[in-house]
Amino acid sequence: MPAFRSNHEFKWEIPAKMVRALPMALGFLSAALASPERLRPIEPGARWVDDQGIAINAHGGGFLLHSGRFYWYGQHMVAGDAGNSAQVGVHAYSSVDLCEWHDEGIALAVSPDPKSEIVKGCLIERPKVIFNSQTGEFVMWFHLEEKGRGYSAAEVGIAVAEEPAGPFRFVKGLRPNAGHWPRNVPENSKRPLSPGERARLSGIAMSGGPIADFPIDLVYRRDFESGQMSRDLTLFVDDDGAAYLVTASEENATLQISRLTGDFLNVTGDFVRVFPNGFNEAPAIFKRRGRYFMFTSGTTGWAPNACRLAVADSIWGPWKPVGNPCVGTAEQKGTTFGAQSTYVLTVPGRANRYVFMADRWKPENPIDGRYIWLPLRWRDDLPVLEWTDSWIPTLGPD
Ligand code: DGJ
Repeated sequence: MPAFRSNHEFKWEIPAKMVRALPMALGFLSAALASPERLRPIEPGARWVDDQGIAINAHGGGFLLHSGRFYWYGQHMVAGDAGNSAQVGVHAYSSVDLCEWHDEGIALAVSPDPKSEIVKGCLIERPKVIFNSQTGEFVMWFHLEEKGRGYSAAEVGIAVAEEPAGPFRFVKGLRPNAGHWPRNVPENSKRPLSPGERARLSGIAMSGGPIADFPIDLVYRRDFESGQMSRDLTLFVDDDGAAYLVTASEENATLQISRLTGDFLNVTGDFVRVFPNGFNEAPAIFKRRGRYFMFTSGTTGWAPNACRLAVADSIWGPWKPVGNPCVGTAEQKGTTFGAQSTYVLTVPGRANRYVFMADRWKPENPIDGRYIWLPLRWRDDLPVLEWTDSWIPTLGPD
């Protein structure tokens, strides 16, 4: 063993990841300090373009703040009829200020392989990405439907990446919680369907929307073995690092909240039912001062309906509905400003700390769907959504 080590063994090595993160962190800081007049305003419902002047294509979006940069992941839609199915994949953008967005390309691409679960023409909706600090991986969950089967497969798709903008590698599709009972159902409901119950259920035509006499406790029992249905979804990471899936399940009748495994690549089997027969979609959840808030919509396909707000002191509930948070005209209140929730972004250090994000869908020409972002206002410790034509995220306390 040499007495002295040569110089090169002592050279200061800044890890590559840190080198990449540094300009981002500085960018975030300078953007945070930039005078608001220098920022491009957020204009809900207008045609939004990226920093190259190209229309932003990221619908049903999910957001991640990582190393001082915001990432926006959404469905890349194309024009015309085919546009509502996945022809391209999940598109990613990044920004330091939420106003100017840079195209990061396709983060998860559909596959040309007809045997792939994410073959071109399947449905990939509402992608959400979270970072796992234990594994160092970025994990994407999305609503996955098999090509040609409409919305009947009702699965989640899971993909991972080493960098926030991808490329993401598809891991698997699944129906969550196979072989597990929800924690909040009575013991005597934890049993498979009887032949009579099965016959009753198969006689009911389910459309994904409310129907009279919808059976309140049959669907999750039917799906006990195969796993629970999962359509509109979001992810939430709590202060303790635990992550949760919130999803429209049971033929859209009931939301289910499930805890994810430590690697965020599966569910643990620990889950609750929320608002049985409430028919909620489009969940968007956040936490403020120890309290959980969840926006949802009703189930009217691509057509907008009134926003709903619920609050809870624990992620597991009980969740309490507190009505429609929108103010304004009857039309604005009745249609959530013509949009449907997708995410609530928490922005540290801004007066507009919570940003409600929603989609104004255009099913006849999906590529032209618009983004509705509104800063949350607070009244009696409850969020209020109010239309504004144009706004800028400004510095200041929550
Ligand atoms: C409403 C959902 O929120 C959307 O994500 C999409 O699945 C449409 N339904 C399809 O009709």
